[in-house]
Amino acid sequence: MQGHDAERGHAILECCQAQVEDLDQILQLDTQAYNGKSLWPRSIYESELNSTNNEIFVLKFPENGEIVGFACCSLVLDECSITNIVVSKNHLRKGFASQLLSYMLDFGNSKGVRQWYLEVRAETNPAAVALYKKFGFESVGRRKHYYSNPREDALILQRGLDLSQIS
Ligand SMILES: CC(C)(COP(=O)(O)OP(=O)(O)OC[C@H]1O[C@@H](n2cnc3c(N)ncnc32)[C@H](O)[C@@H]1OP(=O)(O)O)[C@@H](O)C(=O)NCCC(=O)NCCS
Repeated sequence: MQGHDAERGHAILECCQAQVEDLDQILQLDTQAYNGKSLWPRSIYESELNSTNNEIFVLKFPENGEIVGFACCSLVLDECSITNIVVSKNHLRKGFASQLLSYMLDFGNSKGVRQWYLEVRAETNPAAVALYKKFGFESVGRRKHYYSNPREDALILQRGLDLSQIS
């Protein structure tokens, strides 16, 4: 899928599939977002990049290559699980996660995805829960003590196919 440009103020950002040379910045953002410990080690990101079912998308300034956010997902048949989405702490509340999520949803729709799922911390991540609800995700369940450090339940969020897209 081609990258596309989106204009926000004076910044023109490009959303595209991640390349191996993006991994250093992705790991930095991941470490920053989760208080000093990245969600995944580099080896997992490398295998995601090499996998045919998994995707990583980045949002970057094309002029200097600075990545301001990334999002990961895993596609199996017509289902897609969103496994992570991170925006730089320096660039929060500028609509960047929304751009990444829109790009990912468009990508998935073009591949025939009909159901989207994800888990999110139930109590301590209201920003992510609000982001996903804004995009039509609904809470369909809870996994008890799914997370550690701190121990916390996960909300399971789901988004079905937008029926208006069926011709
Ligand atoms: C969650 C996260 C990706 C949002 O990124 P962002 O670029 O700031 O989000 P956006 O600017 O696109 O915001 C879109 C919507 O999300 C919601 N939102 C985002 N941050 C919010 C906050 N701090 N409080 C409440 N709602 C918030 C709002 O509904 C917002 O829409 P609005 O601006 O019209 O009110 C970012 O906070 C982050 O990287 N968090 C750490 C990593 C993480 O927890 N990821 C989720 C894993 S499931």
